[in-house]
Amino acid sequence: MRGRRILIPLPNTGSMYRKRNTYYMRGIIFMAILIFLFLKLQIFTFYDNHDSVLMEPTNDSVDAIMSMVPSVLHKFLTPKTRNQTLLSNLLHNGSNLIGALNFVDLYHPPNITEINRQIAKYNDMQLVLNEYTFGPLQNDSVIIVVQVHTRITYLRHLIVSLAQAHDISRVLLIFSHDYYDEDINDLVQTIDFCKVMQIFYPYSIQTHPNEFPGIDPNDCPRDIKKDHAIIRKCNNALYPDLYGHYREAKFTQTKHHWWWKANRVFDQLEITRYHTGLVLFLEEDHYVAEDFLYVLEMMYKRTIDLCLQCNILSLGTYLKTFNYYTYNSKVEVMPWISSKHNMGFAFNRTTWNSIRKCAKHFCSYDDYNWDWSLQHVSQQCLRRKLHAMIVKGPRVFHIGECGVHHKKKNCESNQVISKVQQVLRIARKSGQMFPRTLTLTVASLIKKTKLRKGNGGWGDKRDHELCMNMTLPVR
Ligand SMILES: *[C@@H]1O[C@H](CO)[C@@H](O)[C@H](O)[C@H]1NC(C)=O
Ligand SMILES: *[C@@H]1O[C@H](CO)[C@@H](O)[C@H](O)[C@H]1NC(C)=O
Ligand SMILES: *[C@@H]1O[C@H](CO)[C@@H](O)[C@H](O)[C@H]1NC(C)=O
Ligand SMILES: *[C@@H]1O[C@H](CO)[C@@H](O)[C@H](O)[C@H]1NC(C)=O
Ligand SMILES: *[C@@H]1O[C@H](CO)[C@@H](O)[C@H](O)[C@H]1NC(C)=O
Ligand SMILES: *[C@@H]1O[C@H](CO)[C@@H](O)[C@H](O)[C@H]1NC(C)=O
Ligand SMILES: *[C@@H]1O[C@H](CO)[C@@H](O)[C@H](O)[C@H]1NC(C)=O
Repeated sequence: MRGRRILIPLPNTGSMYRKRNTYYMRGIIFMAILIFLFLKLQIFTFYDNHDSVLMEPTNDSVDAIMSMVPSVLHKFLTPKTRNQTLLSNLLHNGSNLIGALNFVDLYHPPNITEINRQIAKYNDMQLVLNEYTFGPLQNDSVIIVVQVHTRITYLRHLIVSLAQAHDISRVLLIFSHDYYDEDINDLVQTIDFCKVMQIFYPYSIQTHPNEFPGIDPNDCPRDIKKDHAIIRKCNNALYPDLYGHYREAKFTQTKHHWWWKANRVFDQLEITRYHTGLVLFLEEDHYVAEDFLYVLEMMYKRTIDLCLQCNILSLGTYLKTFNYYTYNSKVEVMPWISSKHNMGFAFNRTTWNSIRKCAKHFCSYDDYNWDWSLQHVSQQCLRRKLHAMIVKGPRVFHIGECGVHHKKKNCESNQVISKVQQVLRIARKSGQMFPRTLTLTVASLIKKTKLRKGNGGWGDKRDHELCMNMTLPVR
């Protein structure tokens, strides 16, 4: 259950984390059996050393991970904070003793006034980096939008994976930030393999620390009873969620940000005014395969003959990591389900326009998850429900699970990243990348997704209103 009792403070995430562990174990056991059977059938005899790879523990040392990354891309993985840059400069200069003594005073992160000024400037200028090198955006190019919070380490790996993707030079890569951080900006601005743009969610908790949408000191505490709240006259006393809890700013931000960025990209940016192609949604802790754009464009072209009613394409799957190479060219189609298809999906303006008309459903549904809200929109409002084409061998992976279930373990050990690298290496070696064609498989039977009441966390009228306000186009 995804009731509010088990909330975990997560930045830009979908919702599968909480269920993953059990699936994971079951999945591993199941896959082990499958793999055994496959080996018996000698399906893999066409390439060498395949079988031992899966049994080997992965080498997740930093060196090993680095060794899988071309050296020209190491710059994206090498942390260089402003602080350290300053320090090393000072140490090199040596003689600058006074500077060294005052070192701590030299770098000041910007204050909120300054951050607001910068955010306004970026959002106003709509600057596109590398446009001169890679040419203007074509109407049918893919736009990739990455929702970024604070997890720079994952973001580094995502960037490295993007850098290695086929045809990446044709995309516009938009980073949508809800946290202004100069190290993250430096990282994004060093990207040199495609056009890049940064947009900044302007209603963040960071820039509204003591007021809505951040935490207003006069907001009702989450667990206070409604009658007490009314006596206390706290701000939102009349609007607890459907489980009787009051708003928590950190949980509402992700949904607001998701909605803001979708509106911003489709309806407000100048550069997308005539864009009719796909917009692919990623998050900071995703990782892409080198053929993800190739597969995406192929799926898009094939909607005509494989699935006319499909209006959303999905490149990620949660549980299939380990049998990637048995499914290289297979796709399936089924109704879009938030918990299954919320990573690495893409749609075009036609789909967006229909979603946008349902803003009221999205913005007033009492669920703080953007993906469940989108599913609600699909089921309750859309004339043509969201119908997904899903590639069975995932091209988008989720590497950010560390933060949730493995708190105790050493997350810097990069276990998931090295696993993904390994899966991709096997796929590459066995010729499973860049399939020549796609085939439709019969979708596995899915349980009828009973529409449940929302997960709560979205009862506050101010949230509904802010969300609706973002829907007004201002191009
Ligand atoms: C992991 O890889 C690194 C670098 O390639 C190597 O030095 C190290 O010995 C390896 N560790 C294990 C346990 O294989
Ligand atoms: C920079 O480094 C100093 C000393 O290590 C530390 O006290 C300070 O908080 C750091 N500042 C930032 C903005 O990271
Ligand atoms: C240290 O020296 C380098 C080059 O010699 C110079 O660019 C830099 O500004 C100096 N840094 C400081 C803090 O003096
Ligand atoms: C914030 O920073 C700006 C520029 O760095 C400075 O002019 C301003 O006084 C600062 N404001 C506060 C409240 O510290
Ligand atoms: C994009 O579409 C617009 C409107 O249809 C058209 O005017 C423009 O020339 C197109 N741009 C490109 C690069 O195809
Ligand atoms: C969006 O994709 C659908 C097929 O999935 C297509 O019918 C429609 O024309 C596309 N819209 C635009 C604006 O290209
Ligand atoms: C929404 O927009 C209206 C009109 O511009 C404004 O009065 C109101 O304060 C906004 N609400 C929120 C929550 O931002």
